[in-house]
Amino acid sequence: MRLGVNIDHVATVRNARGSAYPDPVRAALLAEAAGADGITAHLREDRRHIRDEDIEGLMAGLKTPLNFEMAATEEMQAIALRHKPHAVCIVPEKRQEKTTEGGLDVAGDDNRLARFVAPLAEVGCRVSMFIDADAKQVEASKRIGAAVVELHTGAYCDFHYEERFEARDAELARLTEMAAYAHSLGLEVHAGHGLTYETVTPIAALPEVMELNIGHFLMGESLFVGMEAAIKEMRRLMDAARA
Ligand code: PXP
Repeated sequence: MRLGVNIDHVATVRNARGSAYPDPVRAALLAEAAGADGITAHLREDRRHIRDEDIEGLMAGLKTPLNFEMAATEEMQAIALRHKPHAVCIVPEKRQEKTTEGGLDVAGDDNRLARFVAPLAEVGCRVSMFIDADAKQVEASKRIGAAVVELHTGAYCDFHYEERFEARDAELARLTEMAAYAHSLGLEVHAGHGLTYETVTPIAALPEVMELNIGHFLMGESLFVGMEAAIKEMRRLMDAARA
């Protein structure tokens, strides 16, 4: 199972002061050195964290694959077609949200998304749909030609920290079922959003999940223990869950 490290929040800190530092590309290189199997970055329409020049720096400097998160807009498609990152993860985007709050409605927009995904797949990007654990969305992702689904673990993690354990366990059951279902349809399964040391184990234990994408918690933890130690501990927990 691969660990993708999301470095958006390094850019958030940089942008808060309008300074040139801390540099998200430097963070990505450190994350790679600490054992990340790939780097995830979300170029938002409003450029609130990652900027176009960061994507250029990542494409030029990374040794591991870049997972480029983006909304399904023409502007983003043109950028992805120019850079041809290893993977493109399509996410829903709202200006007002603090983070990506829910999964993409693939089922409700399947004709447009099928046309959107085709040219990305043609240039060799592995296209992933960031969806809630919902059979309709899994089926639609398969139908439109995505290679991968990334299951949104945000609700599961929120319920855990709100101590709503019944709701958390029900969400985990949905994630478990949908990971197996997506895999049975031939989709590669990833998961992410909100994962921490406390919440990662049951998700990493799902046998169909091939990749976790984790950012906010890891960048926060890096302030206390350093990025290398934070990433190594996450990796250790993932491997222990798998074993
Ligand atoms: N996966 C996707 C598709 C995301 O949008 C994000 C957040 O940018 C993550 C994973 C990582 O979430 P977090 O930063 O909460 O770990």
